[in-house]
Amino acid sequence: MKLAIIGAGQMGAGIAQVAASHHHSVVLVDRDEATVARGIDVIERNLNRSVEKGRLTEEQRGTVLTHIRPEIAIKDFDVDIAIEAASETLKTKLEIFRQLDQSTPPAAILASNTSSISITQLAAATQRPELVIGMHFMNPVPVMQLVEIIRGIATSQATYDFTENLARELGKTPVEVRDFPGFVSNRVLMPMINEAIYALYEGVGSPEAIDTVMKLGMNHPMGPLQLADFIGLDTCLAIMNVLYEGFSDTKYRPCPLLKQYVAAGWYGKKSGKGFYDYTAAAGRA
Ligand code: CAA
Repeated sequence: MKLAIIGAGQMGAGIAQVAASHHHSVVLVDRDEATVARGIDVIERNLNRSVEKGRLTEEQRGTVLTHIRPEIAIKDFDVDIAIEAASETLKTKLEIFRQLDQSTPPAAILASNTSSISITQLAAATQRPELVIGMHFMNPVPVMQLVEIIRGIATSQATYDFTENLARELGKTPVEVRDFPGFVSNRVLMPMINEAIYALYEGVGSPEAIDTVMKLGMNHPMGPLQLADFIGLDTCLAIMNVLYEGFSDTKYRPCPLLKQYVAAGWYGKKSGKGFYDYTAAAGRA
């Protein structure tokens, strides 16, 4: 199968890696060479680790990389499906969907990896709303089992079936959900993270205390503040705003401390600082 993946950040790169590892041909697109190169670099480092662990041969690693073609603009792509994994802003996503509608074959499916934005609204920017769907992978994509599949109001059954099969074929477990703000994953996860930030803001506990309570007390693999840093605080804020505005309900109001961190450019792991400091850590994207 031929895929275009728009956005070479942590999600786009992860999706590209998984698709290429399942022998699909991938065009990985971002706005400039440095950004696409960073995405390819993340993939290479992940594949290198798999070689070190003896799960992949050098030859297989090379083959996976040859399945990924970097591009710096959306062009006429002869693909079966395009998956948008750009930043979590409506304006950016609408523009990408308009471009993909012009640049892919009329029968191609246009999917979004959005964490919360309305699939129905993205579909309305195209002339093919029945072919538009949400395909929400979890981070880190190579590791996490789930793909939330979101039906927009006009999504056809054929589009749903195709996307569900693709998720299975990529070794993931698809779960069908409806198109309401945050879907299921972020309707439940993000208010928990936001509440943890309120607990910090109100001085209930230190970041370490809050995270340790949730790790040891609830068996979460990461505490909510560490997870927020890992997801990106800008993304967390964008999702809280979608919930807050989408439901017009103050129970989803983003914590002022989250807004302040984002205003400071403290986006979490990717910027080197969030609730924790990452400047000394060599590491993983
Ligand atoms: N990319 C690729 N592989 C990675 C990785 C990354 N960024 N991070 C870890 N891994 C792999 C490791 O290579 C390792 O693989 P093996 O077991 O096969 O050797 C495995 O994951 C476990 O890694 P570690 O032993 O280093 O660390 P860990 O046991 O602490 O697990 C974790 C790391 C999987 C990230 C775990 O901490 C975890 O599950 N955290 C929660 C993740 C989560 O909640 N994700 C959802 C976020 S929400 C989202 O994505 C959607 C949204 O809309 C916001």
